[in-house]
Amino acid sequence: MNLTPDEEATLDGEKGPGYQKAMEIIVALGKIYEADNLVAIWSAQVSGVSYQNIGDAGLEFLEEWASMGATCSVQATLNPAAVDLRSWKEFGFPEDIARKQLRIIDAYVKMGIQPTCTCVPYLIGNLPQFGNHVAWGESSAIAYCNSIIGARTNREGGPSSLAAGLVGKTANYGLHLTENRKPELTIQVECPLKSGADFGALGYFVGKRGGNKVIYFQGIRRATLEDLKLFGASLATYGSIALYHIEGFTPEASIVSPVSKTVIVTEDDLKQAYGEINSPLARVDFVALGCPHNSLEEMKAIGQSLQGKSLKSELWVLTARPIKEAAEHLGLDKPILAAGGKIIADTCMVVAPIKEFGFHTIVTNSAKACFYSQNLHNLQVRLASLEKCIDVAVSGIWS
Ligand code: F3S
Repeated sequence: MNLTPDEEATLDGEKGPGYQKAMEIIVALGKIYEADNLVAIWSAQVSGVSYQNIGDAGLEFLEEWASMGATCSVQATLNPAAVDLRSWKEFGFPEDIARKQLRIIDAYVKMGIQPTCTCVPYLIGNLPQFGNHVAWGESSAIAYCNSIIGARTNREGGPSSLAAGLVGKTANYGLHLTENRKPELTIQVECPLKSGADFGALGYFVGKRGGNKVIYFQGIRRATLEDLKLFGASLATYGSIALYHIEGFTPEASIVSPVSKTVIVTEDDLKQAYGEINSPLARVDFVALGCPHNSLEEMKAIGQSLQGKSLKSELWVLTARPIKEAAEHLGLDKPILAAGGKIIADTCMVVAPIKEFGFHTIVTNSAKACFYSQNLHNLQVRLASLEKCIDVAVSGIWS
């Protein structure tokens, strides 16, 4: 791999051990994936934040790295944590987990990372432009970044996204290269997509068949930002898909061509996807909305659906803190709170210590959350549209 004299100096430790460690990680990855060189990045989104996921070993690793004195060279934001960083006590998060989580955040802040704790960095200011190289962790954000924005990132892990943020560079391989952004499979969508949950079910169907291929979609007539966020999260969860194109819609779709290998998705396929995601359940003790974190539009829609109602199930509405604050400013939080719902920032139903809350079932509009709720938290799951989720939270039963 060709390194510039400045990069060589960083690797040799001339800028200190924190940057040296970062460069060692980037160069090691570059060698594994046969990169020719490093490329400057516009931003980093750092994953590996929740204490629930990284534990004491991760905490010690980060504190040690932070003690070396290196700070980020580019804008760097953080993925969700295990608790609401400000209101963990009020929402009943365990104190021991909260305290360790706060230490993790401190370590990241020491390294110059913004403690945004959200998986929708593109909604709160970490918004690269078309063609920018970035180093993002968090699979749903990666799919959004590559596909909808047209910026370029590989699927980074915690240490590699942090290393790239510190050095301001990443190894130039994979989806940073134009030739790897071409479609490998065409999906012809022949079923209506009426909700974000339908996009999630489609993501399940395609993810199971598409592996980690670059997908070219035809036949998708409309999609909101919110649909696309749920779609990318599902594609990434069920298939490790980091880039897709939608004909007539996404920025690179017009500069690539569909491949002849085509899979058709029908209404029956979508029904089958719902059938495979869902588990049997009747009573519902937990409804969670916001995987990926809710946008302001979703906060508004949730509030409107809850106007004048009261809840029988626990409802968590999860979002980024700036979006929570904007919702409060606009009064969008009032109907949610009046109905008995909780608006929780910084964390989510997947990376929080959900077992501590004693839930057995979850209804959500996120296919990604269904997967992890079942496999990580052992919950019975149901995927439904946002409106149906609200109905279920109000009645307390799945009908
Ligand atoms: Fe975000 Fe948590 Fe879902 S990090 S994409 S809300 S699993």
